[in-house]
Amino acid sequence: ADSSTGGGLDSKLTPDNINAALKKAYDDYKGLKEGKNADYIPALAKVDSNIYGIALVTVDGKIYTVGDVKSEVAIESISKVFTMAKVMEESGVESLPHNMGVDATGQVFNSIYAIEQHKGAEMNPLVNAGAITTTSMVKGKSYDEIWNKILNYYGEFAGRSDLKVIEDVYKSEADTNQRNQAIAYLMYAYGHIKGDPMQATDIYTRQCSVGVSAKDLAVMASTLANAGVNPVTGKTLMKADDVPEALAVMATAGLYDDAGKWLYATGLPGKSGVGGGLIAVSPGKFGIAVVSPPLDEAGNSVRGQKAITDISAALGGNPY
Ligand code: DON
Repeated sequence: ADSSTGGGLDSKLTPDNINAALKKAYDDYKGLKEGKNADYIPALAKVDSNIYGIALVTVDGKIYTVGDVKSEVAIESISKVFTMAKVMEESGVESLPHNMGVDATGQVFNSIYAIEQHKGAEMNPLVNAGAITTTSMVKGKSYDEIWNKILNYYGEFAGRSDLKVIEDVYKSEADTNQRNQAIAYLMYAYGHIKGDPMQATDIYTRQCSVGVSAKDLAVMASTLANAGVNPVTGKTLMKADDVPEALAVMATAGLYDDAGKWLYATGLPGKSGVGGGLIAVSPGKFGIAVVSPPLDEAGNSVRGQKAITDISAALGGNPY
């Protein structure tokens, strides 16, 4: 028995149990051959498919890792969560349902059909149309002011001030983001984006290209698990009151059209990115992240989903 936990609800969350769960999930899926890197963005296809790391950060700021938790991949759609958080802090949680909405679309993440269904409403900040609109809502007088604010905010979540754009990913994405430009123009045409839709698309493309490791992502997730306070740095990044709304959007749409399956299996608000990152949040307990680039059909890391599902089950992470 571990006396430090008092044998209460969190008695599964001991260092020994956490390390054992991480190691088991790492070993169980290391040899897995399913899935493939995203290839619709050329630079992502070239990333080493063998990168595989798992990191878990408890709300008391302890960091547990296994595998490659240093290699950086593009954050991609996981960035959408933290830009959403910035808009919640600047403009209030009601600004989002009143704009693009907070509902599942049931469509792929870059669906144009989903925009057309409700003229850009009844969507959410985690699909591209909603995300580019969310980026357009970040306040600032110039491109640079807005971009620096976003990058600094991500750095505060990760607990490091030197996050950088992976320039060849940015360039590759910027060269191939015509569909996102079309999405932004539609959101502008329907009145959801108020400023320059091409500026919003470019900042969005840049935010997707920020390099992060599994450890960075787990610290970011743990801040959401810890009611908006980064448990490693002690800095408050969100009002505690706003965190449940952020987690609700993640639960609704974090894994795109597989969000329901994911919630059914784990109960955890999560978010995936096509760079191979996946984060999940067990409120009041821990944030967890996996980096492993091979994706399934829905665009979610194959190893990431399996590893987090098993680890959370072993540690009693499901809040339901
Ligand atoms: O908008 C895009 O196409 C990418 N930069 C990000 C998409 C993404 O990560 C979707 N994820 N599963």
